[in-house]
Amino acid sequence: MHTMAASFWFLNLTFLLICSFIIAPTVADVGRVNYLHKGSSLSVKHASDVIQSLDGTFSFGFYNLSSTAFTLSIWFTNSADRTIAWSANRDRPVHGTGSKVKLNKDGSMVLTDYDGTVVWQINASSAEVNHAELMDSGNLVVKDRGGNILWQSFDHPTDTLLPNQPITATAKLVSTDLSHTHPSSYYALRFDDQYVLSLVYDGPDISFNYWPNPDHSSWMNYRISYNRSRRAVLDNIGQFVATDNTTFRASDWGLEIKRRLTLDSDGNLRLYSLNKLDRSWYVSWVAFSKPCDIHGLCGWNGICEYSPTPRCSCPRGYIVSDPGDWRKGCKPVFNITCGHGGQRMIFLSNPQTDFWGCDLNYTMSTSLHNCKEMCLESCACVAFVYKTDPNGCFLKSALFNGKAVSGYPGKAYFKVPESFLSRSHKYDSDLYHGHVCDASKKKTLNYETTHNRDGKGTMWYYYYWFLAVFFLVELCFIASGWWFMSTQQSARSEIWAAEEGYRVLTDHFRSFTHKELRRATKNFKEKLGHGRHGSVYKGTLHDSRVVAVKKLNDVKQGEDEFEAEVSVIGKIYHMNLVRVMGVCSEGKHRLLVFEYVENDSLAMSLFGDKGPIQWHQRYKVAAGVAKGLAYLHHGCMDWIIHCDLKPENIFLDLDFEPKISDFGFAKLLQRGQADSSSMSKVRGTRGYMAPEWVSSVPLTEKVDVYSYGVVLLELVMGCRVSELAVDGSEDAESALRQLECTIREKMESDDLTWVDGFVDPRLNGDFVHSEVLLVLEVSAMCLEKEKGQRPSMNHVVQKFLSCE
Ligand SMILES: *[C@@H]1O[C@H](CO)[C@@H](O)[C@H](O)[C@H]1NC(C)=O
Ligand SMILES: *[C@@H]1O[C@H](CO)[C@@H](O)[C@H](O)[C@H]1NC(C)=O
Ligand SMILES: *[C@@H]1O[C@H](CO)[C@@H](O)[C@H](O)[C@H]1NC(C)=O
Ligand SMILES: *[C@@H]1O[C@H](CO)[C@@H](O)[C@H](O)[C@H]1NC(C)=O
Ligand SMILES: *[C@@H]1O[C@H](CO)[C@@H](O)[C@H](O)[C@H]1NC(C)=O
Ligand SMILES: *[C@@H]1O[C@H](CO)[C@@H](O)[C@H](O)[C@H]1NC(C)=O
Repeated sequence: MHTMAASFWFLNLTFLLICSFIIAPTVADVGRVNYLHKGSSLSVKHASDVIQSLDGTFSFGFYNLSSTAFTLSIWFTNSADRTIAWSANRDRPVHGTGSKVKLNKDGSMVLTDYDGTVVWQINASSAEVNHAELMDSGNLVVKDRGGNILWQSFDHPTDTLLPNQPITATAKLVSTDLSHTHPSSYYALRFDDQYVLSLVYDGPDISFNYWPNPDHSSWMNYRISYNRSRRAVLDNIGQFVATDNTTFRASDWGLEIKRRLTLDSDGNLRLYSLNKLDRSWYVSWVAFSKPCDIHGLCGWNGICEYSPTPRCSCPRGYIVSDPGDWRKGCKPVFNITCGHGGQRMIFLSNPQTDFWGCDLNYTMSTSLHNCKEMCLESCACVAFVYKTDPNGCFLKSALFNGKAVSGYPGKAYFKVPESFLSRSHKYDSDLYHGHVCDASKKKTLNYETTHNRDGKGTMWYYYYWFLAVFFLVELCFIASGWWFMSTQQSARSEIWAAEEGYRVLTDHFRSFTHKELRRATKNFKEKLGHGRHGSVYKGTLHDSRVVAVKKLNDVKQGEDEFEAEVSVIGKIYHMNLVRVMGVCSEGKHRLLVFEYVENDSLAMSLFGDKGPIQWHQRYKVAAGVAKGLAYLHHGCMDWIIHCDLKPENIFLDLDFEPKISDFGFAKLLQRGQADSSSMSKVRGTRGYMAPEWVSSVPLTEKVDVYSYGVVLLELVMGCRVSELAVDGSEDAESALRQLECTIREKMESDDLTWVDGFVDPRLNGDFVHSEVLLVLEVSAMCLEKEKGQRPSMNHVVQKFLSCE
């Protein structure tokens, strides 16, 4: 234990040393500095490491997306939400600790992540570089001794254009994806191949221009094509002019107002002006006042409609592909087969609906009946839009850019198999009123869906359909609503939120008063357990949800700071992580409210005397814990290292789905410290700690990978690995190393009987050989002494998935 303590001191000391080393060459915090000299750097660690334009409008430095994710950005110093105008690495944020940007002596400017990975760099040539400077315009320029510009951020816009910053043949705006699941987004403002300034939806499998009006030729849109100059600028008074004759002007045009032109993540282009009084932005011009005209919002097969705010829905027979991301659209629940022997197809209609593009054939002045026959004859036709006055029939090979707006003189007809209809019809009638149609009636009804809507049967039929669809839509709503609430980064809700200005979404996480929690736990009566950070009590909230309440010792942060920190953890939602539902920070009390997990911890189930858990349950635990950790490490914006993964911190629900608890603690405890990079306060548990704990290298997520490796071994062997060492004089780590070597050696051999000797004897041989082998193999990889050799948790999850 003594050597352990000593090592921690050593660790602490090393960090202090490293820190003072980094501080030395950085910008001094005196007055307003608007330049960065050759050889100096900015780092995340020091809040003062920010340079500001001389007039104070813009700042350049590390911008916190969350408490641990940062981008190197230029932002408006004086806007309430510190709006970003430019980012070097918006698709690839860097970690809070140890990331820095440096203007090297050789003239390169390099942004490195905590582990030294180069995330971004500019390649201004050679030693002529003298300094980087943030201009009053918001332009970051790298200059040589003579003041000539070698590189400037204005040439590389992200989603925002500042006054006097041009869009050119090469510089375009690309929207930012709020969900951060795919790098960048699909919307861009750029000159197209006719040199007309256009908004494009540039998706993975399809691309459309949607502004200016794609139904018109450029001259009808008052645009001039083929002027090779290709330049578009917003000037100081709020007027935008482009070489293709695109012209617009802010409603508040005039000098002295700070503006920005931003291509928002909903594909709409907005000109914002800064309100000096409350420092908020207001929209002074917008490209689309009717957002449903923006392409791609609702994805394949999706329909955008106003209710009255815009929202997406699916046609009948289609369901949403991903409730969290409507841009993935809807998918049919049936298969269309074609040709002889194929199913009989019928049509379901949607009034006042249009789908833009993907036309197979267009026929003027034809009857609805002909239109239908044409679509039936063509295998490629999945639907058609029939427009009245003048009559027109548009056969569709695919459905994209759907919108339903009242007053639209057309209807969309979707091809569905007759069998699908009768199937779902029966399903509906089972659900509602037990109404059953006889077959003959069904036939006429189906036929009439496209013809005679006034028939009585049709009415009934519509009624049931309506109920069914209503029910389905409701379900979708509840599901997606739940999804939205559970993640703050839901792309769609933010899209619509952006519509009314930026609005912060509230989620389920809340703060509790101490009194409330005392009542919920009946004055901390039922103690569930006692951990290193404090005791846990069972409680029941007033809405009768059962929760676990943890009283924390040892937290030295102030109330607000602590609450802010925990709210980050509160945003994390994953099936394999115990949900933090709330916090209480009052006076000296620091409590956390957790989701209550019905079953015991893995430690109890595995080592306790309740009888061993089955192999398939253990395997499920192995895969689930991997998923939870992968999410902590890579999935959410806030990278979190658990630092204390062990069977005591893994809970099992009634289905033996594992849930990791106590994550984020390392960070919580670490925050109160003077030096935030020190993990000295955080301790792993003996037997689960990676070798680098006792060395001076910074801890990375790979310490969790190591602990996970130990847990895997214990899942297979059914006993504590650290206890294996007790009989000999060796310590837990060398015992592990021994095991790891043994596994590696044996893996090589063809004879697999050794596995039986390894597996928990209490299973009586009731296990799956291949699964045990996989778990042991992963375990050996995770237990690598060299942290760089251990796999990432994403990789581990992949391994489990590929074996399913
Ligand atoms: C970022 O830092 C600012 C102050 O430095 C703070 O007010 C803000 O809450 C932080 N944002 C996040 C997402 O952590
Ligand atoms: C600098 O050069 C590297 C490799 O040549 C390239 O990947 C990178 O995008 C360049 N950086 C910038 C900002 O142009
Ligand atoms: C340029 O735009 C203006 C107003 O938008 C329009 O009146 C004018 O006719 C356009 N010029 C051409 C050549 O289309
Ligand atoms: C292209 O646009 C610029 C700026 O509007 C104008 O000066 C120039 O004459 C145009 N070129 C042609 C060939 O029309
Ligand atoms: C559609 O076809 C695929 C493969 O051909 C099949 O797996 C799926 O179950 C079918 N779906 C329906 C609703 O029949
Ligand atoms: C489009 O419709 C016309 C008239 O019905 C027909 O002659 C033509 O072959 C169709 N084209 C395609 C590609 O189906």
